Amino acid sequence: MDDYTVFKELVYRKTGIDLSSYKEKQMKRRIESLASRNGYQTLSEYYKGINSDEKLYNEFINYITINVSEFYRNPGQWRVLEEEILPSLMERKRSLKIWSSACSTGEEPYSLVMLLSRYIRLNEIKILATDIDRQAMEKAKTGIYKEKSLQNLPKEFVSKYFRKNNNDFEIIEEVKARVEFGFLDLLRDSFPKGCDLILCRNVLIYFTEEAKQQIYSKFYDALEPGGILFVGSTEQIIMPNRYKLSPVETFFYRKM
Ligand SMILES: C[S@@+](CC[C@H](N)C(=O)[O-])C[C@H]1O[C@@H](n2cnc3c(N)ncnc32)[C@H](O)[C@@H]1O
Repeated sequence: MDDYTVFKELVYRKTGIDLSSYKEKQMKRRIESLASRNGYQTLSEYYKGINSDEKLYNEFINYITINVSEFYRNPGQWRVLEEEILPSLMERKRSLKIWSSACSTGEEPYSLVMLLSRYIRLNEIKILATDIDRQAMEKAKTGIYKEKSLQNLPKEFVSKYFRKNNNDFEIIEEVKARVEFGFLDLLRDSFPKGCDLILCRNVLIYFTEEAKQQIYSKFYDALEPGGILFVGSTEQIIMPNRYKLSPVETFFYRKM
């Protein structure tokens, strides 16, 4: 077995993260460069490092999960969500079951709360937000962000839902309370049922084709008939009909 195969197996046993479902070339290169930056020549030595040093371990998890996010990421798509998708979903029912399935540090689920607050009262909103990175979700729960991550967010939301705290912006409790964070591994765990809207953005790019196929089928099962899957800007689904998903707008698919 080569070095990387052994490393993947050890990481799987330690963390439950299945690196073989992530595109190998990209992931291997990232891990090797992190190992070498920390002074390790081989992956087996590096594994010993992360296995015995919590700081190295946390850095490793943080690095492989790639947490970059921002509020209203790709604002054009949020406009489509607001103008086309939400009205059609809300025509059928007012209280939607919404799942942000790789929520990272929380910008995406909190953006959803703010957007929905234009149409329904805050206390009627509930967003399920999940990820495999517990540290990222801890940060999400604090609700503290740098100004840069708010640059695409409509200004009315910034003034209404954030408190300025030195150089940072902190989300008010009423918005925080509308999001329920939890651990969910898209590769291993079962998915919630009965969703009207699922967001899975900027994570599937890292997965192998086989892993993606499995996940799309699981999204199909998780959606209500007529429910919508919203993907990231480089993540259009090839032949969505295979999964009984039909394209509605670019980056949005409806369960047939
Ligand atoms: C780049 S962020 C995307 C955040 C947000 N959806 C957005 O578009 O801004 C990717 C997230 O996917 C999460 N992730 C990676 N593998 C995952 C898996 N197997 N299951 C659930 N989340 C995963 C990472 O932890 C990371 O927080």
